[in-house]
Amino acid sequence: MPALLLLEAMGNTGEYVIDAALDLGVEVIVATHEDVFEEWYSPSLQAKIRDHAKLVFTDFSDAEGALRQLAEVSRAEGVGGVVACWEFLTPLVARLTADLGLPGNDPSRALGCRNKRIMARAFAEHGVPAPRTVAARTLEEAYALVEKAGLGYPLVVKPAEQSGSWGVSVVRDDEELEAAFAVVRSHLFQMPHGIPLDAHVVIQEYVGGVEYSIETVAAAGRLTPLFPYDKFTTDGAKRAEFGHTVPAELDEASVRVLQEAAVAAARALGVTNGVAHTELKLLPDGTTRVIELGARLPGDHVVALMRRAKGIDEARIYVQVALGLAPDLTPTADRAAGIRFLVPPRGGVLRSVSGIGDSAAVARSSITVPPGGRVRAPGDNDARVGYVILHADTAPEVNRAAAEAIADVTIEVE
Ligand SMILES: Nc1ncnc2c1ncn2[C@@H]1O[C@H](COP(=O)(O)OP(=O)(O)OP(=O)(O)O)[C@@H](O)[C@H]1O
Ligand SMILES: [Mg+2]
Repeated sequence: MPALLLLEAMGNTGEYVIDAALDLGVEVIVATHEDVFEEWYSPSLQAKIRDHAKLVFTDFSDAEGALRQLAEVSRAEGVGGVVACWEFLTPLVARLTADLGLPGNDPSRALGCRNKRIMARAFAEHGVPAPRTVAARTLEEAYALVEKAGLGYPLVVKPAEQSGSWGVSVVRDDEELEAAFAVVRSHLFQMPHGIPLDAHVVIQEYVGGVEYSIETVAAAGRLTPLFPYDKFTTDGAKRAEFGHTVPAELDEASVRVLQEAAVAAARALGVTNGVAHTELKLLPDGTTRVIELGARLPGDHVVALMRRAKGIDEARIYVQVALGLAPDLTPTADRAAGIRFLVPPRGGVLRSVSGIGDSAAVARSSITVPPGGRVRAPGDNDARVGYVILHADTAPEVNRAAAEAIADVTIEVE
């Protein structure tokens, strides 16, 4: 069996991918920065990698240097597949797999899978339904482009390259636009690798409707959409995710609309091998708009939800496709699963989390910030202090059980 090179195992999909690869009998080589490994990895993940995988330290802020080093390592170690568990590194994976002649995505289009300015251009060129978008580096340019495009408030302001809903705001007038613009322009580096980011601010028309996510599996150019699932976000100026339920309760026609748009988005961005995670909104008139696509697994433990609900293991699929193997796409279950995030009422120091429900539908729960740890004010996905995973026969049952499980949660912050 050839080895799998995994760029950045931090974040919640890294462990799923390592486990899936080991389960397939594949040797795993994890590439990360030494400081990131020491400071950001959990002790349990550090131990798992030390015991069961090889470790290569590199510097992702120098893309050319990392590319050269990792190509050399790959040739020396007999690497047969490369994946990333960190969205910012997906363009590097495309270049590396192209250099090595391994299954991967089109390197000339891969930047569009992480950069929302380039993504919007690709969607427009390929007729993918998406919000109308402009991108500006100065406020003056922003006002001029918004007017030229005929866009009106409300508008969505977001960084060209970030994630976790960081810096995403819905704005209703010039003053709010100016403030949101300044927030985005104040953070133009990526944590924790220090990868330089595009300084453009993306401004989009606000799309109403209901939001869903869906993964598309690409294997040797063949695109197969999986099941759309609910993505619950907060209302208001800041949009943070507070949960997901797999699968979404939708009629067949709506499922098809979402699946077709997800496949079109993947095609427009040159996704030919791997898994693409797409977020879209379904409008009351039955049409859809693609909000974004990442050439990566879904975060937020959706891998675990999809396994519980459908018996589909997206991490295993990701590894299989990277190695040029046929992916296991057949569902073996027909249930539902969900996750809800625990978010503090305000920023500060976490004192305690209590009152999580323990009905039969609660599969597991986890508090991810230790008592005494600093927590952020609600607003983006970094404010979470934990989560609850639920399962039941149907999505409405999961949603009901989820509401019950978090109804009496108290999060004390000082
Ligand atoms: N044009 C839009 N119209 C309506 N809502 C939007 C639009 N763009 C973004 N949103 C809302 O804001 C959320 C975050 O935006 P987006 O996905 O572009 O940023 P992100 O940082 O990549 O987020 P994440 O990593 O959390 O998915 C979306 O999931 C959606 O709810
Ligand atoms: Mg998003």
